[in-house]
Amino acid sequence: MNILITGVTSGFGRAIAELLIAKGHTVIGTGRRQAKLDELAGEFGERFIPLCFDVGDKIATKTALQSLPNELLANLDVLINNAGFALGLESADKADFNDWEQMINTNVFSLAHLTHEILPFFTTKNSGYVINIGSTAGKHPYFGANVYGATKAFVRQFSLNLRADLVGKKVRVTNLEPGLCGGTEFSNVRFHGDDDKAKAVYENVEYIQPTDIANMVAWLIEQPEHININELEVMPTAQTFAGLKVVKDL
Ligand SMILES: NC(=O)c1ccc[n+]([C@@H]2O[C@H](COP(=O)([O-])OP(=O)(O)OC[C@H]3O[C@@H](n4cnc5c(N)ncnc54)[C@H](OP(=O)(O)O)[C@@H]3O)[C@@H](O)[C@H]2O)c1
Repeated sequence: MNILITGVTSGFGRAIAELLIAKGHTVIGTGRRQAKLDELAGEFGERFIPLCFDVGDKIATKTALQSLPNELLANLDVLINNAGFALGLESADKADFNDWEQMINTNVFSLAHLTHEILPFFTTKNSGYVINIGSTAGKHPYFGANVYGATKAFVRQFSLNLRADLVGKKVRVTNLEPGLCGGTEFSNVRFHGDDDKAKAVYENVEYIQPTDIANMVAWLIEQPEHININELEVMPTAQTFAGLKVVKDL
């Protein structure tokens, strides 16, 4: 299969690319860091096609896609919209609006844009698979998740609505919603490079690993074409719901 994955320079994207290449697929992998992509190209070999661009930049995205051989785009089998991030964990009244803008731009706008670019290839050949990396934050509220959770709620509803639009087509869509996963740059990015704060998130917790997510993605694409997994929500056993909060004497 030919598989386009956004954000392969670390975390889930990297683990997914590594596993799918090992399984014999061709992976077009994106990210903004050219040096990391060069490293991966050396490691993954000729079935890895690196593309360096910011998914939030519409023109850069179109240019990058146009740089691919027409034949490859026309024969793309899977789009994995993985690039994304959380910024900040402050309550909404104290959050930095610039963080909100960046999350909306990448997690919402760029995911919608790239999907819009790729979908006609899938509907033309009447096959294809969009896997969106959402989050449990798109369903379950937690303190400080304000706009991050809302961007992932967009990913969730967008995924379901795509399925509604694709009625009668053999084009599949899944929203994969992980809970707490370590071994990625997610928390370093969230806390603007504060490694101590990032480390504390994972201390004494048996969290989900990027390789676990890669295995789930491999399982999804190995399902027969008549099966569509709408949503796949996954948490580490160590994580569960906080329940509703009641404040006395408010
Ligand atoms: N880790 C978790 O606990 C967790 C839980 C649920 C959902 N998720 C979601 O899973 C996805 C991957 O997260 P991760 O944990 O693997 O984080 P990560 O290690 O920080 O990886 C994020 C990837 O996205 C790329 N990226 C970010 N912004 C980009 C942009 N504007 N243009 C192009 N590439 C961009 C990064 O590459 P460059 O920096 O090179 O651009 C990087 O490769 C995200 O959508 C995240 O919201 C994570």
